[in-house]
Amino acid sequence: MAFTVAIDGPAASGKGTISKRVAAHFGLGHLDTGLLYRAVGRRMLDGEEPVSAARALVPGDLEVEGLRTAAVGEAASRVGALPEVRAALLDFQRAFARRSGGAVLDGRDIGTVICPEAEAKLFVTASAEVRAERRFRELVAAGADTRFEAVLEDIRARDERDMGRSDAPLRPADDAVTIDTSRLDVEAAVAAAIAAVDAARDVRSAGGSSRG
Ligand code: CDP
Ligand code: CDP
Repeated sequence: MAFTVAIDGPAASGKGTISKRVAAHFGLGHLDTGLLYRAVGRRMLDGEEPVSAARALVPGDLEVEGLRTAAVGEAASRVGALPEVRAALLDFQRAFARRSGGAVLDGRDIGTVICPEAEAKLFVTASAEVRAERRFRELVAAGADTRFEAVLEDIRARDERDMGRSDAPLRPADDAVTIDTSRLDVEAAVAAAIAAVDAARDVRSAGGSSRG
């Protein structure tokens, strides 16, 4: 039976890094659902109507270059507030979650809306300052000319929009395990995530055997 791991959290919390490592550890497929919204956001910046763009999206659109920029992230969070865009992206995400080998999906609403039945749910978070510091370092390493305060402002604006929207707002599912990475390095955060998924697998197999 497919095993689904749902990983949600705010921008730069480390959920993408953790998701890749958890998927590799357990031999599961991985979908970064932020790329779907980024692909639609980018098409909107190119002048397309976002709902039509979301309906016309094909898997190859997730592989185009330039989806990781701050401008596309901001556009993604604007199109992510549109219920018709979210509805258009639902089936692709659910089909990926049901893959026979099992899957890790990361985003904002995986545990609450896309896969409420996921066997393991994690909510990865960190303070806005720590997240802004991580993003700032990435941008500087990539040669961008930016200020820490501007990055922090961007993180806060995106948090507000993602948590404040009425359709699928960012929040932990009631049964999610929260991992605060503010004081954890990548290795410690990955270890905590793997332990949480292992615990969920143990609960599931115990439940399965007691049912016969
Ligand atoms: O996917 P999300 O935007 O949540 O974050 P990410 O791209 O996985 O991580 C943002 C940055 O934080 C990366 O440069 C990571 O190496 C770094 N980082 C982390 O992911 N986890 C930690 N515990 C510490 C740092
Ligand atoms: O990597 P980072 O956390 O900065 O962003 P992302 O995961 O690529 O997501 C970009 C934007 O897409 C988010 O700010 C959300 O508004 C939106 N998104 C969403 O609404 N639902 C998801 N499942 C994933 C992303």
